[in-house]
Amino acid sequence: MTAPLVVGSRAELDATLPGGRLLVPTMGALHEGHASLLRLARAHGDGPLVASVFVNPMQFAPGEDLERYPRTFEADLALCAREGVDVVFAPDVEEVYPGGDPQVTVDPGPLGAELEGASRPTHFRGVLTVVAKLLGLVRPEVAVFGEKDYQQLTLVRRMVDDLCLGVRVAGAPTVRDPDGLALSSRNRYLSPREREQALALSRALDAARRTGAVEAAEKVLADADGVAVDYLALRGPDLGPAPVAGPARLLVAARVGTTRLIDNVALDLGAGSEGP
Ligand code: PAF
Repeated sequence: MTAPLVVGSRAELDATLPGGRLLVPTMGALHEGHASLLRLARAHGDGPLVASVFVNPMQFAPGEDLERYPRTFEADLALCAREGVDVVFAPDVEEVYPGGDPQVTVDPGPLGAELEGASRPTHFRGVLTVVAKLLGLVRPEVAVFGEKDYQQLTLVRRMVDDLCLGVRVAGAPTVRDPDGLALSSRNRYLSPREREQALALSRALDAARRTGAVEAAEKVLADADGVAVDYLALRGPDLGPAPVAGPARLLVAARVGTTRLIDNVALDLGAGSEGP
């Protein structure tokens, strides 16, 4: 197991890396979900595998968990070493935002104001701006994002297409604990009792997946203890309006204790009804 090289600036990246780079952007606090992203990135080529670790202040609103967001750099390095990461790019805020808040940012468009964006109106502007910056800094051929943050993945794809950013975006399936809870860096905020309550999210989605009926998910959530649902939303696979048949995506967000959790699943709505 070789320890990855740790660099902190674009100049160092350019001095150390050939082309064909593969990027997995993260905010650290790495877990097995990130490990799966790293493996998927590696499957896309032999170029240098870069994991970025940067807790992006711009995607947190005042009062959100920027200060308490878990920072576990030594453990992150160990996971990166285990997964064969060549370079951990861990810039400081000044490297990413020289001179403070950027004057030019990425507008996430209408989808950025829906679902997560309805509760977190500045979130996706912050996400897309930092992703655009990371793509500009690392200049990868392929960048990998998790389906767990499905709206983020969808918006990143749209940004890359709309702004012709010339990188391939790969989505990696959500990794779950054996009882179904989607892995998330924020799961460590949950008390044992809240973790048990949080299982309602994956159980609800699974009920809908098995039956093809959103009502099955609604029932699980309505019966759940300690789960304040923000939204349960059926959409098309690209997060357009809900289809009446065929592939769809069901997304859920809820607060358990003080922790906001999100999850989603692919649904097949079948052939739909033929109407009267
Ligand atoms: O998914 C995340 O960890 C972050 O939103 C990302 C993509 C690294 C941007 O800060």
